[in-house]
Amino acid sequence: MTVNHLNAPLTLPCGVSLKNRLVKAAMTERISNRRMEPTEGHQELYRLWANTGAGLLITGNVIVDPVHAESAGNVYVGDDDILPKLKAWAEAAKQNDTHVWVQISHAGRQTNRFKTSRPLAPSPVQLQKMGLFGKPKAMTEVDIQGVIKNFVKAASLCQAAGFTGVQIHSAHGYLLSQFLSPITNQRTDAWGGSLENRCRLLLTIVEETRKAVGDKFPISVKLNSSDFQRGGFSEEESLQVIQWLEGKIDLLEVSGGTYENLVFFEKNEELAPQKESTRKREAYFMDFSKKVRAVSQIPLMITGGFRSFDFCNQALENKELDLVGMARPFITNIPDIPAFLAGDKNRLENLVVRTGIKSMNDTSEGGFYARQIVRLAAGKNLDLNMGAWNGSLFIVRHELRKAMLSRFG
Ligand SMILES: Cc1cc2nc3c(=O)[nH]c(=O)nc-3n(C[C@H](O)[C@H](O)[C@H](O)COP(=O)(O)O)c2cc1C
Repeated sequence: MTVNHLNAPLTLPCGVSLKNRLVKAAMTERISNRRMEPTEGHQELYRLWANTGAGLLITGNVIVDPVHAESAGNVYVGDDDILPKLKAWAEAAKQNDTHVWVQISHAGRQTNRFKTSRPLAPSPVQLQKMGLFGKPKAMTEVDIQGVIKNFVKAASLCQAAGFTGVQIHSAHGYLLSQFLSPITNQRTDAWGGSLENRCRLLLTIVEETRKAVGDKFPISVKLNSSDFQRGGFSEEESLQVIQWLEGKIDLLEVSGGTYENLVFFEKNEELAPQKESTRKREAYFMDFSKKVRAVSQIPLMITGGFRSFDFCNQALENKELDLVGMARPFITNIPDIPAFLAGDKNRLENLVVRTGIKSMNDTSEGGFYARQIVRLAAGKNLDLNMGAWNGSLFIVRHELRKAMLSRFG
């Protein structure tokens, strides 16, 4: 008889137990109100996700600085006034004995022009993508100290609101990942140059957050296995950073890529229904997991591409990872997830959304899924026929509208 390793509990170093090994990975919700506060839509979504039975839900990007948002529809956590709305969100998500952790983040140079034309970043290295991003200003020492304070304050507010953990976002090319990369971090002070210096901001935020939230509150870091860019943050560097995080965090989540190469959208294609012989290995960051295991004891979550129970179960049995992170199936496959978790449904169908133009892959697929999230939050059904071009169009329109609303009401 197959043992169901996906449905087994996990105790983290801080002493907290998760009821099983399935995690809804972060997906930006883009549904805050014009004051960047959580809405009833957040409660609706997280009720849906709590009822899938997943042991842990990680929220989408929640922003520690109202300007540097990944999306104009992000929640901003910085003032005590937000506590009642945060509490309502946490309450809805925690039903069914589910853990819910907030992903705290600062977008740095990946803040789009609708929010600001002069984002702060480690160095003035502009992101070239459809003209959507302005030339960044290099952060001063005061800016850096401000960011540290903001991350810690956000984590403390999330704890006070009843969320059961936080995840510090240091992947996907956002601010902390910009500091890690030699391409985007060209500083010559204590925050740039050697890997030790480039990693200083992440480690300082982790250490200061730990002081603020105490030893019993889970802290996770989402980190790139690499940036998948020549001259960017490499696998060897990632492995070194992981060793420096040892003993400081409760969960490491591995992902990869930046806005210049959002590998998880590219790789999705390789998992599309096609001949078994041409399908690539499910879960594209798994090869990295062996290397992580060789140098680290930190509980490990891998996200990206997991679609079959057998594969997840085998990987858990082999101890290649501790938690399975899934994102897109938590949009398109919600009704199937309880059976998947029980081992009664092997495969969650994988949807790939393409316009046929390679450079549009991430906006078409990202926009398609973003719109489905907005619909689910509004209590509507999925619209799987919306088409790839409409995905791209949706994302640009939605961002513009949300940014205008938050700027001008
Ligand atoms: C619509 C959408 C929004 C996302 N938003 C975030 C986010 O806010 N933070 C984050 O770390 N990753 C985000 N991701 C990436 C996912 O967490 C995940 O790493 C990626 O989708 C690969 O997992 P999957 O193949 O199971 O979808 C997002 C992905 C999608 C599809």
